[in-house]
Amino acid sequence: MESLHEPFMNRGSISPTGNGTTDHLEKMKLTKASPDSVSDKIERYRGALLVISIPVLVIMLVVYAMPGKSAHDATVLKEIELLSRKVGVSYRGDRQYAVIFDAGSSGSRVHVYCFDRNLDLVPIGSELEIFEQIKPGLSSYANDPQAAADSLISLLEKAESAVPVDLRSKTPVRVGATAGLRALEGNAADRILQAVRDLLKDRSTLKSDANGVRILDGSQEGSYAWVTINYLLGNLGGTYKDTVGIVDLGGGSVQMAYAISKDAASKAPSAPDGEDNYVNQMYLKGSKYYLYIHSYLNYGLLAARAEILKASDESGNPCILEGFDGSYAYNGKEYKASAPSSGTNMEECRRVILKALKINDTCTYMKCTFGGIWNGGGGDGQKNLFVASFFFDRAAQAGFIKAADHVAIVKPHAFADAAKRACGTNYADTKVTFPDLGEGDLAYICMDLVYQYTLLIDGFGLDPYQDITLVRQVKYGNSYVEAAWPLGSAIEAVSS
Ligand SMILES: *[C@@H]1O[C@H](CO)[C@@H](O)[C@H](O)[C@H]1NC(C)=O
Repeated sequence: MESLHEPFMNRGSISPTGNGTTDHLEKMKLTKASPDSVSDKIERYRGALLVISIPVLVIMLVVYAMPGKSAHDATVLKEIELLSRKVGVSYRGDRQYAVIFDAGSSGSRVHVYCFDRNLDLVPIGSELEIFEQIKPGLSSYANDPQAAADSLISLLEKAESAVPVDLRSKTPVRVGATAGLRALEGNAADRILQAVRDLLKDRSTLKSDANGVRILDGSQEGSYAWVTINYLLGNLGGTYKDTVGIVDLGGGSVQMAYAISKDAASKAPSAPDGEDNYVNQMYLKGSKYYLYIHSYLNYGLLAARAEILKASDESGNPCILEGFDGSYAYNGKEYKASAPSSGTNMEECRRVILKALKINDTCTYMKCTFGGIWNGGGGDGQKNLFVASFFFDRAAQAGFIKAADHVAIVKPHAFADAAKRACGTNYADTKVTFPDLGEGDLAYICMDLVYQYTLLIDGFGLDPYQDITLVRQVKYGNSYVEAAWPLGSAIEAVSS
């Protein structure tokens, strides 16, 4: 398993049965080419059919609109859909496509989704999405915005060809840039984004909007990840009490997101200067949600290692495995990493981590998580927590869940149990004890697991023995779908 991945919302795509995009496009063409099919005939007599069927459609719609017919609704709707599909008129109205570009640091990807009138995902051919990616990412063209934008052309063409011609002008296209562009200096990122906006305006037939091309910050990624997971679980469209909360532990930042009541949202404090609002409003599948969200920059797993090494004293860091004497590189800086002469010690490690988490920072709200950040007040939207990315990876590498599982229900205490074992391992033995762990992560396995436990318990205030769901992919129909942010962005784009 790679150790330097971006947060899970940034990872690749869903394509549950592999990447059959080309195949399926071929198939679509074939269907269209078959001579004198029913649809060809309909096409030919479309004019006549239109004249006949519009009154029929109107009658059916009237019947549908009459009260007390709920038992028939489904059948009537289906008939309307069938008829309108044959005529080729309003049928298009019940399919809605969305095109989402995920401009990550290592590459650019495009996702095309299709939704029906209930906002359920409709397979495009045999796939739940059309997915395509290229390398390198936009940030590799820091000095040439035009080349950056042009690098998206092949993806754009692929995406457009997946959308029926008459729906293209109604199909929203969005570009979300993440870690890579965020890190560029000066106005390089702005110039690249502007070139992408121009490209979409000039070369694409899709519905682009200047605001749809932007850098996503941690909160936005976290919000969309929350949308994706709750959407896939079938939780949207009801009340906030039906939703689950998420904790997403990426490399650079960790996000907590959960829905709160309207009342709680109206009493939410404003965030400290320079931070995003604590509460976002979102309209999804016909319901309005108030989403508490906070992204803790520098508390993703890889960034936290640097914070934890900084928090230790001259004698060494009690989270580093005995037998290791080296340094840790993060964001262009090097940190000395070695165990103190007294050895690795889980309790001492926990103490250093609590310090790094600024657990005792002044809390100016009713209740805080850590670093003086409002905890959102809790409530039903946080009762069920889905915990993702590095939480899943390390749990699998430590061996208390199976890497092949899509979800696993555990108790936070499992991280402490695993940490106990890890912290008592000599560096020389780690390869045998943790065979699935990447080479560069071996020295930090005690630190990572103690951090994960401490973050959940002391940081976010979870009970060590409550159930949490570790999640990698969510089942949707017969497929397993990666809980990535682009789907959440697509759902918001077609919901609004
Ligand atoms: C936080 O405060 C508590 C109570 O005063 C204290 O026992 C604890 O050591 C402090 N923790 C840190 C990391 O400063």
